[in-house]
Amino acid sequence: MTTTQVEYRQLGKTGLRVSVPVIGAMSFGSTDWSSWVIEEEKALEVLKAAWDKGINTIDTSNNYSNGVSERIIGNFIQKYQIPRNEIIIATKCFGLVGKTPGTLAHARSNLRFERDYVNQHGLSRAAIFNAVEASLERLQTNYIDLLQILRFDADTDPEETMKALHDLVQSGKVRYIGACSMRAWQFAMLNEIAAKRGWTKFVSMQHEYSLLYREDEREMLAYCKYNGIGVIPWSPLAGGPLARPLGAETPRTKFMKGSPFEPKLSEGDITIINRVKELAEKHGKTMSQVALSWISTKITSPIVGVSSVARLEESLTKGFDLTAEEIKYLEEPYVPRAVRSC
Ligand SMILES: NC(=O)c1ccc[n+]([C@@H]2O[C@H](COP(=O)([O-])OP(=O)(O)OC[C@H]3O[C@@H](n4cnc5c(N)ncnc54)[C@H](OP(=O)(O)O)[C@@H]3O)[C@@H](O)[C@H]2O)c1
Repeated sequence: MTTTQVEYRQLGKTGLRVSVPVIGAMSFGSTDWSSWVIEEEKALEVLKAAWDKGINTIDTSNNYSNGVSERIIGNFIQKYQIPRNEIIIATKCFGLVGKTPGTLAHARSNLRFERDYVNQHGLSRAAIFNAVEASLERLQTNYIDLLQILRFDADTDPEETMKALHDLVQSGKVRYIGACSMRAWQFAMLNEIAAKRGWTKFVSMQHEYSLLYREDEREMLAYCKYNGIGVIPWSPLAGGPLARPLGAETPRTKFMKGSPFEPKLSEGDITIINRVKELAEKHGKTMSQVALSWISTKITSPIVGVSSVARLEESLTKGFDLTAEEIKYLEEPYVPRAVRSC
């Protein structure tokens, strides 16, 4: 029996209702891929708790733990006999999926030029179809609710990409299409091509957005708002710093240390993190609830990364609203920064 502890929001102009939050599955997979992810047994516990609380939307990607994340979701649906029509699976194509869980495909840029991988990357018709067939097999399903392109592919004719995505929707293997981090002009161009040709358009954008990274407010968020496109941002807790006091160490912070993914905090960031902490104490909430409550005033639904049931519970914000003054207080120290993720 579900006790719904979340709200549901329409994904842009579509009639599809996603939960707030969406649960991110990048942290479920194989420790061979990344030491900080949780493996199947623990991930199933988190997914079941999320489902029982009413979370109906999971975001994964074909390349997370080289497909292990998708396999865990497929196993979750089978194990708990989740009605397929009640759960929303969002996955992605574009990234290279290594042949073993521990293949660090993102770190081996030449891999995509090898025979076994050459047509398994990017957004050609072949790569997209190959990716979708493989995702369906791993997820043990015959359709994907939301297929997102992970990035813009400058090496493929955008018409080829948009036609392939349209054909997948027509075939019933994909219900909606979305896109992730790219320049606003690229996203607008792809949608324009679809509109001109009468093909399926993107219904959602998944980009980096948090109190510590607001660069897409100028163009991307404005474009999505104007066109009724749903926004489901990644790293709403900035990958962790917005969820805990400064200096706290976790397996993920240790893994990131010294890598290109290590968050570099500016003075403005530190002030924001301290303000999040201050408001959390004032309201008797967790820092992540404050950061997620803020972001939920701006977009459709944040995709949160959690590694335990306790953290999942700390990601629920239903009924907790910040005042306009508090929102301003959190935003005020932000200093524009270099654009990333494209
Ligand atoms: N499309 C893309 O390019 C893209 C890129 C990245 C992510 N994503 C998607 O977005 C999802 C979320 O990304 P993310 O994991 O970077 O997002 P996030 O929600 O900003 O960060 C998650 C991290 O925050 C920390 N955290 C969460 N709740 C906490 C709590 N209650 N107390 C203390 N710490 C807490 C944990 O850090 P520790 O593990 O250090 O404890 C956790 O790993 C991914 O799973 C994936 O689905 C998409």
